[in-house]
Amino acid sequence: MSGEQGKERPNKLKLGIFGANMDGGMTATKVKDRFRLTWPNVERVARAADEAGFEALLPMMRWKSMGGETDFHGTSYEPFTWAAGVSSVTDNIGVYSTMHIFAVHPLMAAKHMATIDHISGGRYGFNLVCGWFPPEYQMFGIPMPEHDERYAYAAEWLEVVDRLWTSDEPFDFNGKFFQLKQLQMKPKPVRRPRIMNAGASETGARFAAEHADMAFIGVLEHESEQQKRANVDRLRNTARDEFGRDIEVWSGAWVLCRPTEEEAQAEYRRVLVEEGDYSIIDSMPPGVVPPLDDMPKEEADMMRAKLLAGFGSIHLVGTPEQVADKLEAMSAIGLDGIVLTFVDYEPEIANFTANVMPLLEQRGLRNLRQEARVPDPV
Ligand SMILES: Cc1cc2nc3c(=O)[nH]c(=O)nc-3n(C[C@H](O)[C@H](O)[C@H](O)COP(=O)(O)O)c2cc1C
Repeated sequence: MSGEQGKERPNKLKLGIFGANMDGGMTATKVKDRFRLTWPNVERVARAADEAGFEALLPMMRWKSMGGETDFHGTSYEPFTWAAGVSSVTDNIGVYSTMHIFAVHPLMAAKHMATIDHISGGRYGFNLVCGWFPPEYQMFGIPMPEHDERYAYAAEWLEVVDRLWTSDEPFDFNGKFFQLKQLQMKPKPVRRPRIMNAGASETGARFAAEHADMAFIGVLEHESEQQKRANVDRLRNTARDEFGRDIEVWSGAWVLCRPTEEEAQAEYRRVLVEEGDYSIIDSMPPGVVPPLDDMPKEEADMMRAKLLAGFGSIHLVGTPEQVADKLEAMSAIGLDGIVLTFVDYEPEIANFTANVMPLLEQRGLRNLRQEARVPDPV
């Protein structure tokens, strides 16, 4: 009932599952055994993550396909309704929606969120996205505002939502973007839903520091451990020093774990090198793909693989020991949590739970689970 918010002993390293509302999840591959989007599959993933003690189920919102042979991200479930459905089949895990704020009025969003918070018994949270892809704004017939203006709009949007969640009396709202009369909303959420934001720019990071409970940061593999830690510290300290707030800092990782390194590398070759849907790179929006032709071949290949798997996040490929080592290193730079993606979620959550989770427990990053299902490694 309580999700991570109610846990007495939070895990030192929290874990989430990212993208289980998208066909293919976060991996653009043609392999037949990739994640396929059906509601029974979503339910299975949600239950597996819940039983394994994960803290967060985080969907993605994409209105337009990224194209390619697999029509990458062309098929997805809408995150508010997804979160409502997922809430009703889980018991403890935090359930999130991701939504572009231009797509939904704050009055509607506040109501959706309070309702899901009731369905989940206070386990709901919201990943606030300002949007960056002009064709998605065009689908709504809205011109995309300039970058920092999108965050100014977000601050006001969230203020309306917050007042609806907390105000017992009807109120007027007179802002720059919203002029609203006699707002009221009941029921209130069970508790204030946690706000998540993944702004990567200076303005985005400041927005997250001021408004979010969970902020995302990209971890760049080529940086030193010291530099990575400094990046995490800077975000956390901005929240603390400038806004008097304690925030959690999270990142993402794409995981491929096999009993031996050879098996992990062979699977990596099968899923990404041989069967990767590289045609999506040609149809990606400008600005997303770095100038690959100007890079050394090895670096360009790695960049292509990252665009296909996990949308640029770090890759953890190897044995359970190696995956646990890398997760421990991510915790050591100060991260509170990591959202994971896999080629297919359900078998890989089982694999991770059986083989990596015990190592994380031994290293003091996770508390012992009460009653774990321990399936064989895949
Ligand atoms: C974990 C994570 C989830 C995200 N989910 C989405 C999403 O579902 N839809 C989207 O358009 N952008 C998504 N983003 C992009 C961010 O919201 C943000 O627009 C991006 O990091 C650029 O930052 P900026 O707005 O500060 O320039 C996500 C980013 C991360 C790291």
